[in-house]
Amino acid sequence: MSNIDHTVNIDLQERSYPILIGSGLLADASLFSDKLPYRHILVVSNETVAPLYLDTLKTALGNRLVEQVVLPDGEQHKTMEVMNRIFDTLMNGRFGRDCCVLALGGGVVGDMAGFAAASYQRGVAFVQVPTTLLAQVDSSVGGKTGVNHALGKNMIGAFHQPTAVVIDSDALQTLPDRELSAGLAEIIKYGFIRDADFLQWLEENMSSLLARSKPELTHAIKRSCEIKAEIVAADEYEHGVRAYLNFGHTFGHAIETSQGYGNWLHGEAVAAGMSMALTMSARLGWLDNTEVARGLAIIRSANLPVEPPPEMTTDTFLELMSRDKKVREGRIRLVLLKAIGDAIVSTDYDDNHLSATIKQCLPDHTA
Ligand SMILES: NC(=O)c1ccc[n+]([C@@H]2O[C@H](COP(=O)([O-])OP(=O)(O)OC[C@H]3O[C@@H](n4cnc5c(N)ncnc54)[C@H](O)[C@@H]3O)[C@@H](O)[C@H]2O)c1
Ligand SMILES: [Zn+2]
Repeated sequence: MSNIDHTVNIDLQERSYPILIGSGLLADASLFSDKLPYRHILVVSNETVAPLYLDTLKTALGNRLVEQVVLPDGEQHKTMEVMNRIFDTLMNGRFGRDCCVLALGGGVVGDMAGFAAASYQRGVAFVQVPTTLLAQVDSSVGGKTGVNHALGKNMIGAFHQPTAVVIDSDALQTLPDRELSAGLAEIIKYGFIRDADFLQWLEENMSSLLARSKPELTHAIKRSCEIKAEIVAADEYEHGVRAYLNFGHTFGHAIETSQGYGNWLHGEAVAAGMSMALTMSARLGWLDNTEVARGLAIIRSANLPVEPPPEMTTDTFLELMSRDKKVREGRIRLVLLKAIGDAIVSTDYDDNHLSATIKQCLPDHTA
């Protein structure tokens, strides 16, 4: 008997796969023998997660050839150099094309293991076992993989869909509070862009989520995965609606870049970025001030920042935002809200509105 509470299917024709959500899944031998028919598996993890969960997972994987590579922990290690260690292990262990790379960890491990799986022998099977809330609701689903370059985050990568995502909500019990909140930022994002009722549910259940109550966490993970699955199925390669998932991210990436990798967590930068995108949406007349205030209150209630760091200026924001991957023909593409639950992508806005928005959102309004 397996402990799967929910299965969310991601519908991508021959690349379709299930997202399995439940409690105790990391130790669930029957799940792994049913859903992961691979004989030779390389588990990629990191120094923090491996001591917590690797033994349990290996026991559940049972009687097959399982090797491991344990990477250093941190966004600053999401590089080609560190990823080479995965290739070294695959080559030294004579892994064939029928092997499987399994990511056990947060988004950093998942993005690197996924990119290694995308390129090793031009592509081998890949399974995600995400252990942070952010990875469970966002980075493990959808097939974006990659590493950072000194000149830009996630600039080198590939689309490579996993063959399954196994989400054990119990892993969240060891997650640091700040990381839990960072994951909540992406969950709140799904409410803003797609589901006003879910946003209201989040408002009502935020304290249970922060207290790591399992039924609420499981519901939030499931609903988030459903929304991400629906958007990715509609637009796997980001020609259209998938861009909605970048709500708050163009502002957020500017914050992350200005602070150096790792000082502001991705979810924290996205939280402040979403506050700025809400403010911009109001400036364009689409949201009213009550809706913006409500949005900021939800973000704050998850212990997330609603303002960028004080040393940033309007000019640094504009400069960093115009370097973002999402710039098209010289215009910064912004994901904004026509209403709560209804996102759009816009390049057609008055630049003065953007500068005024940034100025308004900076902690010191004179910057
Ligand atoms: N591929 C995508 O679509 C996508 C989407 C969003 C973010 N990302 C990427 O994901 C990364 C961020 O992911 P993240 O927030 O998971 O960060 P992370 O992978 O750095 O994990 C955060 C921290 O939590 C630790 N950790 C992980 N699981 C734990 C557990 N169960 N208990 C205790 N500690 C645990 C990690 O070792 C790390 O120190 C970024 O590199 C970002 O670019 C990718
Ligand atoms: Zn994100």
